[in-house]
Amino acid sequence: MKKKITKNTLVDMKRRGEKIAALTAYDYLSTRILDDCGVDLILVGDSLGMVIMGYDNTLPVTMDEIIHHLKAVARAKPRAMLAGDLPFMSYQASTEDAVRNAGRLVKEGGAESVKLEGGERYVPVIEAIVQASIPVIGHLGLTPQSLHQLGGYVVQGKDESSAEVMIRDAKSLERAGCFAIVLECIPWRLAERITAEVSIPTIGIGAGSHCDGQVLVLQDMLGIHVNPLPRFVKKYDEVGERIRAAATRYIKDVKEGGFPGLEHSYAAGGGAGSTDTQRDTVEDGQDTGGGA
Ligand code: KIV
Repeated sequence: MKKKITKNTLVDMKRRGEKIAALTAYDYLSTRILDDCGVDLILVGDSLGMVIMGYDNTLPVTMDEIIHHLKAVARAKPRAMLAGDLPFMSYQASTEDAVRNAGRLVKEGGAESVKLEGGERYVPVIEAIVQASIPVIGHLGLTPQSLHQLGGYVVQGKDESSAEVMIRDAKSLERAGCFAIVLECIPWRLAERITAEVSIPTIGIGAGSHCDGQVLVLQDMLGIHVNPLPRFVKKYDEVGERIRAAATRYIKDVKEGGFPGLEHSYAAGGGAGSTDTQRDTVEDGQDTGGGA
């Protein structure tokens, strides 16, 4: 069995030059599958606000929603490091709030680390969470919880002065005790500089190939979406289209009598058409809930 991935594993990967592959997950089955594939870091991100809850942005996401999904993901007992996002207003108002809410993600949700957005201003908050023995991932660049302050989803750090501020921010997050930093939607050359100037891993999303790792929202990379995707997403499949095709076939089958067939039905004496008098088990799924 492969060894559990911890924050130290991820920092060592940077030292060795081994790239970190991270994905979001919000449910048990996807986590089981992703973990089997060897993903290094699983994030229960506040992106669940859009991809699971149907909110317009991440701002309405609550602690309880993150914890609900964290619990499902944690039940998969992933080998990957499990991180939970601190949602908007769970850490901005006070350090006390931040420590208490980070603690909830670990204690109630089963997170092994927490992620929060913001630069130097959050140093005292990060220090306090780390003091409480909770590993912290920082998040710089396009920080979606600051959507209104930033004036939209726009690439950050494009001019020299904002780039310098971001480099300073990254260094202060490292000094404060973060073990990794997400860099979202920044020019690749800036991400390359930050990656070279900090000793903790940078995990990019729309930040080019020089980061120590990459993260994508699972549904985006699978091609499950209804709105256009940002340019930084690489679609590895068109699962949304496949769901459409499968659901359309199923609906047609049900309406036209093509499903269920005899092979999906139980006979009085035993399984599909048999005369076996033994008690039937549901088979495969063991329960009517499916293949979990
Ligand atoms: O909420 C999220 O999923 C994130 C990642 C995209 C980094 O913050």
